[in-house]
Amino acid sequence: MIDLSRFKTTGQQTCFHGRHIQPQIYTGLDGRNWRLQDYMARGGYSALKKILGVDQPDGAAGMTPDQVIAEVKLSALRGRGGAGFPTGLKWSFMPRQFPGPKYLVCNSDEGEPGTCKDRDLLAYNPHIVIEGMVIAAYAMGVKTGYNYIHGEIFEIYERFEQALEEARAAGCLGERILGSQFSFELHAHHGFGAYICGEETALLESLEGKKGQPRFKPPFPASFGLYGKPTTINNTETFAAVPWIINHGGQAYLECGKPNNGGTKIFSVVGDVERPGNFEVPLGTPFATLLELAGGVKGGRALKAVIPGGSPAPVLPAKTMMDMTMDYDAIAKAGSMLGSGAVIVMDDTRCMVRSLLRLSYFYQHESCGQCTPCREGTGWLWRLVDRIEHGKGRPEDLDLLDSVAEDIKGRTICALGDAAAMPVQGMLKHFRDEFAYHVEHKCCMVAAAATLTPTPLPEGEGVALTPTPLPEGEGVNS
Ligand SMILES: Cc1cc2nc3c(=O)[nH]c(=O)nc-3n(C[C@H](O)[C@H](O)[C@H](O)COP(=O)(O)O)c2cc1C
Ligand code: SF4
Repeated sequence: MIDLSRFKTTGQQTCFHGRHIQPQIYTGLDGRNWRLQDYMARGGYSALKKILGVDQPDGAAGMTPDQVIAEVKLSALRGRGGAGFPTGLKWSFMPRQFPGPKYLVCNSDEGEPGTCKDRDLLAYNPHIVIEGMVIAAYAMGVKTGYNYIHGEIFEIYERFEQALEEARAAGCLGERILGSQFSFELHAHHGFGAYICGEETALLESLEGKKGQPRFKPPFPASFGLYGKPTTINNTETFAAVPWIINHGGQAYLECGKPNNGGTKIFSVVGDVERPGNFEVPLGTPFATLLELAGGVKGGRALKAVIPGGSPAPVLPAKTMMDMTMDYDAIAKAGSMLGSGAVIVMDDTRCMVRSLLRLSYFYQHESCGQCTPCREGTGWLWRLVDRIEHGKGRPEDLDLLDSVAEDIKGRTICALGDAAAMPVQGMLKHFRDEFAYHVEHKCCMVAAAATLTPTPLPEGEGVALTPTPLPEGEGVNS
């Protein structure tokens, strides 16, 4: 058993506890030690020195850009922003000999319901992100970078600006970094809080000062990115993983996780758990262990279901999750996705219709409106779930929901359409009976079960449950 008494939180700080497993990114953080001197004391910027061949004890030469990319490829680091694309491969797409400007962008937009790992990283370990970006810039021959930070966390934007100042003053950023021939300047950019600006091409539009609407792909950012120039975009946590890989080698990182799923991942465990927070564990850790790290299901209740990778990920029932390992391939095999790593835990008091209503509201609200299937379809989904939730659903609405979701998927400019459709189909696949119950009884199955009166059955047949009638006029119970 894990010693829960070590875990102290005010509810504001979500990553300062001893319940990470083999942490690489969150090691040694206490909420105050975010400054450059603290980071240096933890061995910070040693990976940058290693690739540049600065202050190496044995006078070792640095690494070439190709060697850096090869190490990242070997590590099997996959993008932590949602899609899990191999990072080393993405870096190799950057046309290094391109004569004009090229850009590196960090995606710190983090607007997905449940996900809260990047803001902790920027607040409590900003230099690890800066170091990772400088190394990436070196590997891809980039001279200018931006960190696009979510609009609703202004204090973290200010913190990151301070960290940038410290890095510049120490020669870790700017002209001729650490006395080498390599120069790279990095700027922080404050977004305005729209979820869609986390989509990489919408982010680029926003960074250019335009309305944050996704671009049609191809062309991909590697050839036509910021200001039409080759650009590489990675998530905050992806960059934060890089210094460890350089310091310890790609093979060690790979071995820390599973084949094709290298290293640790930060999971934001939220919902019905005793101690929600961010937990850094090796990829491939059993879900049951992660749940234990978060103190188990709240109040000792039964686990009903889990959304394993942020709001777009299809829900999975408890039984599936209790046998699951937390890595990209295992979760995909079970029909969901690891996504951004937000693990939304739901206990047996949760109504799946109501939960889906909340998600569907979010997606129709955040659709940028550019393409018809998403603009209209997300609204349809929301209205359909709303009428089922409120006792006005028709039996045919369940198939209609599924077909609207199917018609959105793969027919939109960006993946927000898929993100809106997938939770609907996941809920119908695993909890269709709850939706049907809502339609038939015009009330919630879970709420009804909570007010059930046990009626003894004949010997040996267990206990039958009879719904307690609702008061007059309260036929809609959610
Ligand atoms: C609607 C939508 C929102 C997204 N939001 C984020 C986000 O907040 N942060 C992020 O890193 N990636 C987000 N992504 C994924 C990015 O488009 C992109 O794949 C990612 O930043 C690439 O970084 P990675 O390869 O390191 O994962 C979002 C994608 C979509 C479709
Ligand atoms: S899928 Fe939705 S969010 Fe994405 S471009 Fe189309 S309308 Fe905008």
